[in-house]
Amino acid sequence: MSLEAIRYKRGKLEVLDQLRLPHEHHYDEVSTSEAAFDCIRSMRVRGAPAIAIVASLALGVELWNARFYAKNGPETIAFIDGRLDYLYESRPTAVDLANAIAVLKEAVREVDDTGMEGAVARSAVILKFVETAEVILKRDLQNNLAIGSNGADWLLKQGEPTDSSLSVLTHCNTGSLATSGHGTALGIIRSLHARNVLKHAYCTETRPYNQGSRLTSFELVFEKIPATLVTDSMAAALFHLKKDAMNIRAVIVGADRVVRNGDTANKIGTYQLAVLARHHGIKFIVAAPTTSIDLDTVTGSDIKIEERKREELTQISGPVVKADGTVDVKQTVRVATADQHIDVWNPAFDVTPHGLIDVIVTEKGAVEKNVDGEFDLTTVKA
Ligand code: MRU
Repeated sequence: MSLEAIRYKRGKLEVLDQLRLPHEHHYDEVSTSEAAFDCIRSMRVRGAPAIAIVASLALGVELWNARFYAKNGPETIAFIDGRLDYLYESRPTAVDLANAIAVLKEAVREVDDTGMEGAVARSAVILKFVETAEVILKRDLQNNLAIGSNGADWLLKQGEPTDSSLSVLTHCNTGSLATSGHGTALGIIRSLHARNVLKHAYCTETRPYNQGSRLTSFELVFEKIPATLVTDSMAAALFHLKKDAMNIRAVIVGADRVVRNGDTANKIGTYQLAVLARHHGIKFIVAAPTTSIDLDTVTGSDIKIEERKREELTQISGPVVKADGTVDVKQTVRVATADQHIDVWNPAFDVTPHGLIDVIVTEKGAVEKNVDGEFDLTTVKA
Protein backbone atom coordinates (compact mmCIF):
# COMPACT_ATOMS: atom_id res chain seq x y z
CA MET A 1 0.00 0.00 0.00
CA SER A 2 1.29 3.50 -0.76
CA LEU A 3 0.19 6.79 0.75
CA GLU A 4 -2.45 8.61 -1.26
CA ALA A 5 -3.14 12.30 -0.74
CA ILE A 6 -5.65 12.33 -3.57
CA ARG A 7 -8.26 9.67 -4.33
CA TYR A 8 -10.09 10.17 -7.56
CA LYS A 9 -12.53 8.50 -9.86
CA ARG A 10 -14.61 10.36 -12.42
CA GLY A 11 -17.23 12.42 -10.58
CA LYS A 12 -15.69 11.95 -7.12
CA LEU A 13 -12.62 13.45 -5.45
CA GLU A 14 -11.41 12.74 -1.93
CA VAL A 15 -8.48 14.54 -0.35
CA LEU A 16 -6.54 13.39 2.69
CA ASP A 17 -6.69 16.04 5.42
CA GLN A 18 -2.98 16.68 5.99
CA LEU A 19 -3.62 18.83 9.04
CA ARG A 20 -4.64 15.69 10.91
CA LEU A 21 -1.55 13.71 9.92
CA PRO A 22 0.24 11.72 11.14
CA HIS A 23 -2.32 10.85 13.79
CA GLU A 24 -5.52 10.48 11.77
CA HIS A 25 -6.31 9.44 8.21
CA HIS A 26 -9.39 11.34 7.24
CA TYR A 27 -10.47 12.00 3.65
CA ASP A 28 -12.68 15.00 2.81
CA GLU A 29 -14.91 14.85 -0.22
CA VAL A 30 -14.04 17.84 -2.42
CA SER A 31 -16.64 18.29 -5.14
CA THR A 32 -16.73 22.02 -5.86
CA SER A 33 -14.28 24.79 -6.64
CA GLU A 34 -15.21 26.50 -3.33
CA ALA A 35 -14.37 23.33 -1.40
CA ALA A 36 -11.06 23.05 -3.29
CA PHE A 37 -10.21 26.70 -2.58
CA ASP A 38 -10.83 26.15 1.13
CA CYS A 39 -8.90 22.87 1.20
CA ILE A 40 -5.88 24.53 -0.46
CA ARG A 41 -5.99 27.82 1.50
CA SER A 42 -6.29 25.99 4.84
CA MET A 43 -3.44 23.65 3.80
CA ARG A 44 -5.43 20.46 4.22
CA VAL A 45 -3.73 19.76 0.92
CA ARG A 46 -0.44 21.43 0.08
CA GLY A 47 2.62 20.97 -2.10
CA ALA A 48 2.83 22.60 -5.54
CA PRO A 49 1.73 19.64 -7.72
CA ALA A 50 -1.01 18.49 -5.30
CA ILE A 51 -2.51 22.00 -5.18
CA ALA A 52 -2.77 22.09 -8.99
CA ILE A 53 -4.21 18.57 -9.17
CA VAL A 54 -6.85 19.14 -6.49
CA ALA A 55 -7.96 22.45 -8.02
CA SER A 56 -8.22 20.89 -11.50
CA LEU A 57 -9.99 17.70 -10.43
CA ALA A 58 -12.40 19.47 -8.06
CA LEU A 59 -13.61 21.74 -10.83
CA GLY A 60 -13.81 18.66 -13.05
CA VAL A 61 -16.07 16.98 -10.50
CA GLU A 62 -18.21 20.11 -10.19
CA LEU A 63 -18.65 20.24 -13.97
CA TRP A 64 -19.23 16.49 -14.28
CA ASN A 65 -21.99 16.64 -11.72
CA ALA A 66 -23.42 19.59 -13.69
CA ARG A 67 -23.92 21.90 -10.71
CA PHE A 68 -23.96 25.07 -12.81
CA TYR A 69 -26.00 26.86 -15.46
CA ALA A 70 -24.74 27.22 -19.04
CA LYS A 71 -26.67 26.48 -22.19
CA ASN A 72 -23.87 26.18 -24.75
CA GLY A 73 -20.11 25.92 -25.26
CA PRO A 74 -19.16 29.61 -24.83
CA GLU A 75 -21.22 29.92 -21.62
CA THR A 76 -19.60 26.75 -20.26
CA ILE A 77 -16.15 28.11 -21.07
CA ALA A 78 -17.00 31.45 -19.45
CA PHE A 79 -18.11 29.59 -16.30
CA ILE A 80 -14.90 27.51 -16.31
CA ASP A 81 -12.72 30.61 -16.77
CA GLY A 82 -14.40 32.30 -13.81
CA ARG A 83 -13.91 29.27 -11.57
CA LEU A 84 -10.27 28.86 -12.61
CA ASP A 85 -9.53 32.55 -12.01
CA TYR A 86 -11.05 32.17 -8.55
CA LEU A 87 -8.98 29.03 -7.78
CA TYR A 88 -5.84 30.83 -8.95
CA GLU A 89 -6.13 33.12 -5.91
CA SER A 90 -5.99 30.25 -3.40
CA ARG A 91 -2.20 30.30 -2.96
CA PRO A 92 0.10 32.56 -4.97
CA THR A 93 3.67 31.22 -4.92
CA ALA A 94 3.54 27.77 -6.53
CA VAL A 95 3.32 28.03 -10.33
CA ASP A 96 1.91 24.53 -10.96
CA LEU A 97 -1.63 25.79 -10.44
CA ALA A 98 -1.15 28.66 -12.90
CA ASN A 99 0.37 26.25 -15.43
CA ALA A 100 -2.53 23.79 -14.99
CA ILE A 101 -5.04 26.63 -15.43
CA ALA A 102 -3.38 27.66 -18.70
CA VAL A 103 -3.50 24.06 -19.98
CA LEU A 104 -7.18 23.66 -19.00
CA LYS A 105 -8.24 26.96 -20.54
CA GLU A 106 -6.52 26.09 -23.79
CA ALA A 107 -7.99 22.57 -23.89
CA VAL A 108 -11.62 23.68 -23.56
CA ARG A 109 -11.13 26.26 -26.30
CA GLU A 110 -10.16 23.49 -28.72
CA VAL A 111 -13.72 22.08 -28.38
CA ASP A 112 -15.25 25.48 -28.95
CA ASP A 113 -13.52 25.61 -32.33
CA THR A 114 -15.19 22.40 -33.58
CA GLY A 115 -18.48 24.10 -34.50
CA MET A 116 -20.64 22.12 -32.04
CA GLU A 117 -23.58 24.02 -30.58
CA GLY A 118 -25.97 24.20 -27.61
CA ALA A 119 -26.10 21.34 -25.11
CA VAL A 120 -23.87 19.15 -27.28
CA ALA A 121 -21.09 21.73 -27.10
CA ARG A 122 -21.63 22.16 -23.37
CA SER A 123 -21.17 18.41 -22.81
CA ALA A 124 -18.13 18.29 -25.07
CA VAL A 125 -16.46 21.16 -23.20
CA ILE A 126 -17.12 19.45 -19.87
CA LEU A 127 -15.73 16.14 -21.10
CA LYS A 128 -12.63 17.86 -22.47
CA PHE A 129 -12.05 19.63 -19.15
CA VAL A 130 -12.44 16.42 -17.15
CA GLU A 131 -10.16 14.43 -19.44
CA THR A 132 -7.50 17.17 -19.32
CA ALA A 133 -7.65 17.31 -15.50
CA GLU A 134 -7.25 13.53 -15.43
CA VAL A 135 -4.18 13.78 -17.67
CA ILE A 136 -2.69 16.34 -15.25
CA LEU A 137 -3.12 13.78 -12.44
CA LYS A 138 -1.68 10.88 -14.41
CA ARG A 139 1.29 12.82 -15.85
CA ASP A 140 2.33 14.00 -12.41
CA LEU A 141 2.95 10.44 -11.24
CA GLN A 142 4.92 9.62 -14.41
CA ASN A 143 6.94 12.82 -13.96
CA ASN A 144 7.79 11.99 -10.37
CA LEU A 145 9.00 8.49 -11.21
CA ALA A 146 11.25 9.97 -13.91
CA ILE A 147 12.55 12.69 -11.54
CA GLY A 148 13.39 10.01 -8.96
CA SER A 149 15.39 8.06 -11.46
CA ASN A 150 17.09 11.09 -13.08
CA GLY A 151 18.04 12.53 -9.69
CA ALA A 152 19.49 9.27 -8.42
CA ASP A 153 21.48 8.84 -11.67
CA TRP A 154 22.86 12.38 -11.39
CA LEU A 155 23.88 12.09 -7.76
CA LEU A 156 25.55 8.73 -8.23
CA LYS A 157 27.67 10.21 -11.03
CA GLN A 158 29.03 13.03 -8.85
CA GLY A 159 32.41 13.13 -7.21
CA GLU A 160 34.52 10.10 -6.61
CA PRO A 161 32.88 6.79 -7.53
CA THR A 162 31.84 5.22 -4.29
CA ASP A 163 30.74 1.74 -3.45
CA SER A 164 29.50 2.81 -0.07
CA SER A 165 26.05 4.26 0.35
CA LEU A 166 25.35 7.94 0.82
CA SER A 167 23.15 10.14 2.99
CA VAL A 168 21.02 13.15 2.10
CA LEU A 169 18.97 15.82 3.81
CA THR A 170 15.58 17.03 2.65
CA HIS A 171 13.35 19.91 3.68
CA CYS A 172 9.56 20.30 3.84
CA ASN A 173 7.40 17.57 2.31
CA THR A 174 7.76 16.69 -1.35
CA GLY A 175 6.54 13.10 -1.27
CA SER A 176 3.35 11.23 -2.05
CA LEU A 177 1.46 13.71 0.10
CA ALA A 178 2.56 16.72 -1.97
CA THR A 179 1.95 15.09 -5.34
CA SER A 180 -0.07 12.36 -7.04
CA GLY A 181 2.44 9.82 -5.72
CA HIS A 182 6.16 8.98 -5.28
CA GLY A 183 7.14 12.63 -4.89
CA THR A 184 9.85 14.88 -6.32
CA ALA A 185 12.76 15.42 -3.90
CA LEU A 186 11.44 12.57 -1.78
CA GLY A 187 11.04 10.62 -5.03
CA ILE A 188 14.81 10.85 -5.54
CA ILE A 189 15.33 9.61 -1.99
CA ARG A 190 12.92 6.72 -2.65
CA SER A 191 14.82 5.86 -5.83
CA LEU A 192 18.18 5.91 -4.00
CA HIS A 193 16.70 3.65 -1.36
CA ALA A 194 15.27 1.28 -3.97
CA ARG A 195 18.74 1.04 -5.52
CA ASN A 196 20.23 0.15 -2.11
CA VAL A 197 22.57 3.15 -2.14
CA LEU A 198 20.88 5.23 0.54
CA LYS A 199 22.61 5.09 3.88
CA HIS A 200 20.38 7.60 5.66
CA ALA A 201 17.86 10.38 5.03
CA TYR A 202 17.68 13.39 7.33
CA CYS A 203 14.53 15.46 7.30
CA THR A 204 14.07 18.89 8.81
CA GLU A 205 11.14 19.75 11.03
CA THR A 206 10.24 22.67 8.67
CA ARG A 207 8.91 25.33 10.99
CA PRO A 208 6.41 26.82 11.30
CA TYR A 209 4.03 24.38 9.62
CA ASN A 210 6.09 21.28 10.39
CA GLN A 211 5.63 19.59 7.02
CA GLY A 212 8.92 17.77 7.73
CA SER A 213 8.08 16.40 11.16
CA ARG A 214 4.37 15.78 10.51
CA LEU A 215 4.49 14.58 6.90
CA THR A 216 7.97 13.67 5.64
CA SER A 217 8.97 11.74 8.75
CA PHE A 218 5.62 9.94 8.49
CA GLU A 219 6.32 9.01 4.85
CA LEU A 220 9.88 7.89 5.67
CA VAL A 221 8.69 5.69 8.53
CA PHE A 222 5.87 4.34 6.35
CA GLU A 223 8.36 3.44 3.58
CA LYS A 224 10.85 1.98 6.09
CA ILE A 225 13.60 4.30 4.84
CA PRO A 226 16.34 4.79 7.48
CA ALA A 227 15.79 8.37 8.59
CA THR A 228 16.34 10.93 11.34
CA LEU A 229 14.36 14.06 12.11
CA VAL A 230 16.26 17.26 12.98
CA THR A 231 15.06 20.78 13.67
CA ASP A 232 15.79 23.38 10.98
CA SER A 233 18.42 24.97 13.21
CA MET A 234 20.44 21.74 13.48
CA ALA A 235 21.48 21.51 9.83
CA ALA A 236 24.83 23.31 10.22
CA ALA A 237 25.85 21.16 13.16
CA LEU A 238 24.69 18.03 11.34
CA PHE A 239 26.84 18.84 8.31
CA HIS A 240 29.81 19.82 10.46
CA LEU A 241 29.71 16.77 12.71
CA LYS A 242 28.28 14.00 10.54
CA LYS A 243 29.08 14.80 6.92
CA ASP A 244 32.04 12.43 6.68
CA ALA A 245 30.82 9.72 9.04
CA MET A 246 27.44 9.49 7.32
CA ASN A 247 28.69 10.43 3.82
CA ILE A 248 26.15 13.27 3.54
CA ARG A 249 26.38 14.12 -0.15
CA ALA A 250 23.34 16.19 -0.98
CA VAL A 251 20.54 18.43 0.15
CA ILE A 252 17.52 17.58 -2.02
CA VAL A 253 14.55 19.93 -2.05
CA GLY A 254 11.44 20.50 -4.14
CA ALA A 255 10.25 23.71 -5.75
CA ASP A 256 7.18 25.86 -5.86
CA ARG A 257 8.45 27.96 -8.75
CA VAL A 258 11.69 27.76 -10.70
CA VAL A 259 12.08 30.90 -12.81
CA ARG A 260 13.96 31.42 -16.08
CA ASN A 261 17.42 31.92 -14.54
CA GLY A 262 16.99 28.98 -12.13
CA ASP A 263 16.24 31.00 -8.98
CA THR A 264 13.91 28.78 -7.00
CA ALA A 265 11.09 29.55 -4.58
CA ASN A 266 10.55 26.75 -2.09
CA LYS A 267 9.54 26.32 1.54
CA ILE A 268 10.98 28.89 3.93
CA GLY A 269 14.34 27.63 5.18
CA THR A 270 15.47 26.27 1.80
CA TYR A 271 17.79 29.22 1.13
CA GLN A 272 19.68 28.80 4.39
CA LEU A 273 20.20 25.11 3.59
CA ALA A 274 21.65 26.05 0.19
CA VAL A 275 24.11 28.42 1.88
CA LEU A 276 25.10 25.71 4.36
CA ALA A 277 25.43 23.07 1.65
CA ARG A 278 27.80 25.31 -0.34
CA HIS A 279 29.87 26.04 2.77
CA HIS A 280 30.21 22.33 3.54
CA GLY A 281 30.85 21.12 -0.03
CA ILE A 282 27.52 19.30 -0.22
CA LYS A 283 25.56 19.21 -3.50
CA PHE A 284 22.32 21.19 -3.60
CA ILE A 285 19.66 19.55 -5.77
CA VAL A 286 16.32 21.06 -6.75
CA ALA A 287 13.79 18.45 -7.89
CA ALA A 288 11.08 20.04 -9.99
CA PRO A 289 8.68 18.76 -12.61
CA THR A 290 8.46 21.08 -15.63
CA THR A 291 5.02 22.05 -14.32
CA SER A 292 6.91 23.95 -11.57
CA ILE A 293 8.97 25.96 -14.09
CA ASP A 294 7.99 29.52 -14.94
CA LEU A 295 9.93 30.85 -17.91
CA ASP A 296 7.89 34.07 -17.96
CA THR A 297 9.48 35.28 -14.73
CA VAL A 298 13.08 36.22 -15.27
CA THR A 299 14.59 36.27 -11.77
CA GLY A 300 13.55 35.25 -8.27
CA SER A 301 13.06 38.84 -7.15
CA ASP A 302 9.82 38.90 -9.19
CA ILE A 303 8.27 35.92 -7.35
CA LYS A 304 5.33 36.75 -5.10
CA ILE A 305 5.96 35.19 -1.70
CA GLU A 306 2.90 34.18 0.30
CA GLU A 307 2.81 35.55 3.85
CA ARG A 308 0.72 33.59 6.30
CA LYS A 309 -0.99 34.38 9.57
CA ARG A 310 0.82 35.19 12.80
CA GLU A 311 -0.76 32.34 14.76
CA GLU A 312 1.35 29.82 12.83
CA LEU A 313 4.34 31.11 14.82
CA THR A 314 2.72 31.95 18.11
CA GLN A 315 0.47 28.91 18.60
CA ILE A 316 0.45 25.22 17.84
CA SER A 317 -2.27 22.61 17.98
CA GLY A 318 -2.24 18.84 18.12
CA PRO A 319 -3.71 15.82 19.83
CA VAL A 320 -3.04 15.18 23.49
CA VAL A 321 -0.28 12.74 24.41
CA LYS A 322 -1.54 10.55 27.26
CA ALA A 323 0.51 9.50 30.27
CA ASP A 324 1.27 6.13 28.64
CA GLY A 325 2.77 7.92 25.59
CA THR A 326 -0.11 7.15 23.22
CA VAL A 327 -1.91 9.90 21.33
CA ASP A 328 -5.58 10.69 21.95
CA VAL A 329 -6.86 11.94 18.60
CA LYS A 330 -10.24 12.82 20.10
CA GLN A 331 -8.67 15.51 22.29
CA THR A 332 -6.99 18.29 20.32
CA VAL A 333 -5.51 21.25 22.12
CA ARG A 334 -4.15 24.57 20.97
CA VAL A 335 -1.28 25.99 22.96
CA ALA A 336 0.64 29.27 22.92
CA THR A 337 4.31 29.02 21.96
CA ALA A 338 5.15 32.73 22.14
CA ASP A 339 4.01 35.94 23.74
CA GLN A 340 0.71 36.53 21.92
CA HIS A 341 1.55 40.24 21.45
CA ILE A 342 4.88 39.84 19.68
CA ASP A 343 5.07 41.12 16.10
CA VAL A 344 5.42 38.26 13.60
CA TRP A 345 6.85 37.90 10.06
CA ASN A 346 5.73 34.65 8.46
CA PRO A 347 6.76 34.21 4.81
CA ALA A 348 5.82 30.70 3.66
CA PHE A 349 8.62 30.50 1.08
CA ASP A 350 12.04 31.90 0.27
CA VAL A 351 14.04 32.16 -2.94
CA THR A 352 17.33 30.33 -3.39
CA PRO A 353 19.57 32.12 -5.92
CA HIS A 354 20.56 29.89 -8.84
CA GLY A 355 24.24 30.34 -8.00
CA LEU A 356 23.75 28.09 -4.97
CA ILE A 357 21.96 25.34 -6.92
CA ASP A 358 24.05 22.57 -8.50
CA VAL A 359 21.34 20.93 -10.56
CA ILE A 360 17.65 21.17 -11.35
CA VAL A 361 16.26 17.68 -11.86
CA THR A 362 13.16 17.45 -14.03
CA GLU A 363 11.29 14.53 -15.57
CA LYS A 364 13.03 15.37 -18.84
CA GLY A 365 16.52 15.24 -17.38
CA ALA A 366 18.95 16.95 -15.02
CA VAL A 367 19.82 20.52 -15.97
CA GLU A 368 23.26 21.74 -14.91
CA LYS A 369 24.72 25.22 -15.30
CA ASN A 370 26.77 26.06 -18.39
CA VAL A 371 30.35 27.33 -18.29
CA ASP A 372 29.08 30.84 -17.52
CA GLY A 373 27.27 29.53 -14.43
CA GLU A 374 23.81 29.93 -15.98
CA PHE A 375 20.93 27.46 -16.26
CA ASP A 376 19.16 27.07 -19.61
CA LEU A 377 15.75 25.68 -18.71
CA THR A 378 14.49 25.99 -22.27
CA THR A 379 16.19 22.63 -22.84
CA VAL A 380 13.41 21.02 -20.79
CA LYS A 381 10.56 23.49 -21.17
CA ALA A 382 9.70 25.45 -24.31
O1 MRU B 1 3.46 25.38 1.99
P1 MRU B 1 3.56 24.05 1.31
O2 MRU B 1 3.52 22.89 2.23
O3 MRU B 1 2.60 23.94 0.16
O4 MRU B 1 5.03 24.06 0.67
C1 MRU B 1 5.46 22.95 -0.06
C2 MRU B 1 6.82 23.09 -0.59
O5 MRU B 1 7.49 24.09 -0.42
C3 MRU B 1 7.33 21.97 -1.45
O6 MRU B 1 8.71 21.83 -1.33
C4 MRU B 1 6.99 22.24 -2.92
O7 MRU B 1 5.66 22.61 -3.06
C5 MRU B 1 7.27 21.06 -3.77
S1 MRU B 1 6.20 19.69 -3.43
C6 MRU B 1 6.61 18.49 -4.54
